[in-house]
Amino acid sequence: LAEIEVDVSQVAEGQSITAKWRGKPIFIRHRTAQEVEEAKTVDLNDLKDPIARNANLPADAPATDVNRATGGGQPAAGDDMSAVREQWLVMVGVCTHLGCIPLGQSGDYDGWFCPCHGSHYDTAGRIRQGPAPENMAIPPYAFTTDTNIRIG
Ligand code: FES
Repeated sequence: LAEIEVDVSQVAEGQSITAKWRGKPIFIRHRTAQEVEEAKTVDLNDLKDPIARNANLPADAPATDVNRATGGGQPAAGDDMSAVREQWLVMVGVCTHLGCIPLGQSGDYDGWFCPCHGSHYDTAGRIRQGPAPENMAIPPYAFTTDTNIRIG
């Protein structure tokens, strides 16, 4: 399907679900405040890949935490819907090395670990150590309500 809708109303803080979009797993993680904080405090100079890799942003947007957690779409006039919901990370769950599916809540940076060749990703899905060249990709997505995400 070109577009999917995912209801995240049952995904509590600290939990994740995996959706399927264009044959790929999409990790949707409701991050804890601590995970967000951890990702925000990282010095961008320490990142192996300094680019956000977010389909909703310009191609050269830097890999700040907020840029990793920004979807598309505009809030309608009068509501408080924002494209940024920093607690939610919506990410293509494919290792940028050779395409394995990383394990969640694993690795040296509290994010994801790819067991194929040992790539460690942080709580924003950014590559921190190992052979993967890029941060995991953020697909086009937007919140259509507080608890519904359209991907694609
Ligand atoms: Fe993930 Fe090689 S495919 S580290």
